[in-house]
Amino acid sequence: MCIIKTIKEVRKEIRKADDGKEISIGFVPTMGYLHEGHLSLIKRARKENDLVVVSVFVNPTQFAPHEDFDSYPRDVERDYNLAIESGADIVFAPEKDEIYEKNSLTFVNIEGEITKKLCGKSRPTFFKGVTTVVAKLFNIIQPTNAYFGQKDAQQVAIIKKMVKELNYDINIIPCSLVREHDGLALSSRNVYLNNEERKQALILSKSLFTAKEMFLNGEKNVQKLKQFIINNIKTQNLADIDYVEIVDAKNLEDIETIDRTALVALAVKIGKTRLIDNIYLEVE
Ligand code: PAF
Repeated sequence: MCIIKTIKEVRKEIRKADDGKEISIGFVPTMGYLHEGHLSLIKRARKENDLVVVSVFVNPTQFAPHEDFDSYPRDVERDYNLAIESGADIVFAPEKDEIYEKNSLTFVNIEGEITKKLCGKSRPTFFKGVTTVVAKLFNIIQPTNAYFGQKDAQQVAIIKKMVKELNYDINIIPCSLVREHDGLALSSRNVYLNNEERKQALILSKSLFTAKEMFLNGEKNVQKLKQFIINNIKTQNLADIDYVEIVDAKNLEDIETIDRTALVALAVKIGKTRLIDNIYLEVE
């Protein structure tokens, strides 16, 4: 098997594996430059499905013109080897023109607050790009189960909504965020950080962990927890906060008191690199 670049070919390979039987297809969509977080999704998909398909596609429609589409790290050969070692059967890595017609006019867009808050505030076209490409990939691969990292908790909530509202017969399986030994959330963008930035970036997970301790010790006030995290992050001179929010974990709606399981989510620029991280505060 080698890297598959066309829709026709990937469909043919899936049909070949399927061969008229009802097999389960696990799908892990990625933008490549795979790290342990992605590999954990692939390994889980391997355990739970007959066939595992991984896509590697840096999706242009989810980047705004001023963002890092051109410089986003890419190494498809390395991704292919890592994906196969982790249990993938098929690696689909199409070029842009294979996925998008020239001047294409069809997009999938979820209206409402869910795509406008948190990351949607500073990246207003981001989720339209994500839902469009994920819908296309779902149509191409037609998976049984699709695996997404909880690091992008808002993305998971939005994709779940899309799947429900567009009647896709696909199980969306959120998987735990994976961290480096010192707490930094794994991200393909971590390669942009120099030593000093990498050190200062630890303030994100440290603040989240301490906020969780405060919550476990009885602090339920959203404003107080948020302010604590903001003040903590501001101690680092290279950190520029995009947002720190605490919302209902299920629907991402605003809350004032943590009386149901909450998602604490943040996005912070460290130098030029925008990082996101989150943690759940669980209420039985
Ligand atoms: O999470 C990502 O890497 C991307 O947003 C996704 C889901 C692969 C769509 O391009």
